[in-house]
Amino acid sequence: MHAMEEYIATMPKAELHVHIEGTIEPALAQQLAIRNNVPIPSSIASLADTSNGYSFHDLTSFLAVYYPNMAVLLTSQDFFDLAYAYLTKAHSQNVVHTEMFFDPQAHTSRGVSFSSVVTGLREAIVRAERELGVSASLIMCFLRDMDAQSAMDTLIEALPHKDWIVGVGLDSDERDNPPSKFSDVFARAKQEGWLVTCHCDIDQKNSIEHIRQALEDIGVDRIDHGTNIVEDERLVQMVKEKGLGLTCCPVSNSVVTRDFKGKEILQLLRSGVKVTISSDDPAYFRGYVNENLMKMVNGANISKEELLTLQRNAFEISWISEGKKEYFLRLLEKY
Ligand code: ADE
Ligand code: ZN
Repeated sequence: MHAMEEYIATMPKAELHVHIEGTIEPALAQQLAIRNNVPIPSSIASLADTSNGYSFHDLTSFLAVYYPNMAVLLTSQDFFDLAYAYLTKAHSQNVVHTEMFFDPQAHTSRGVSFSSVVTGLREAIVRAERELGVSASLIMCFLRDMDAQSAMDTLIEALPHKDWIVGVGLDSDERDNPPSKFSDVFARAKQEGWLVTCHCDIDQKNSIEHIRQALEDIGVDRIDHGTNIVEDERLVQMVKEKGLGLTCCPVSNSVVTRDFKGKEILQLLRSGVKVTISSDDPAYFRGYVNENLMKMVNGANISKEELLTLQRNAFEISWISEGKKEYFLRLLEKY
């Protein structure tokens, strides 16, 4: 193994931007389809070999493969198997803490109960903590291309499971779906004691305005992606003053925009913004957290010291207790 690869592989890491539905490897999707007696999704049936990975070329074609594949996820056992497989993989890459997004509406809209989704995911977290020693939590995302009422209904449905969910987020197709569409939902989420994040995807039609809304109108606790702040010094200052983090995903960026934004990520890191690196949808974009960090090495020439800063940032902006944070930071400093 290349020395830098080894350094990254053995470093204790936190992953703060991973969609659990985006961790479904083709082989697992095929296995669940057979177990549930549902058709094997066409994106998998068309593969010569399940190890080849899914095929798409931009955000729209990605989402067109992503959502139909979820048809194989029906029971709480399926959600358990999905999350446990991801947690096992993350553990193998020395991820010691992970915050996993899930999209309840992508399942309840197909007739799967909220409780099947969340109990399966929760069981995987409990087992992984016990058996692997990995720390994990859940962030519930609202689908921004659905209406605000559906998001609010989902929030209400989640209340009985409030303690299993650390915060809420916003994902799916950003075009014409600004954060402000969900201001009432986010206000309610905060009232319920949840932390708040929001996808501000790369190079959107209104990226700057959407980031401004997330920061000033919604009052988010962090931003997923959000690297377009480099174009607006006022936003950079605001993010720094608030001490907010950005969860960046270079491999995902390179697929959906053809530019992994390494230069921008590095520029923000060097200017003191709490930037972190995650995988987004690793089974689709074909890179878990270590491969994403290697992309920063090979594509942006990031230094060892800067790799450490990325991980220090990740632990600092993670949504865990101060005690756990200190423990992980000490682990990293020892490293
Ligand atoms: N949901 C899962 N992955 C996503 C992405 N890359 N962008 C927006 N929504 C998503
Ligand atoms: Zn994402």
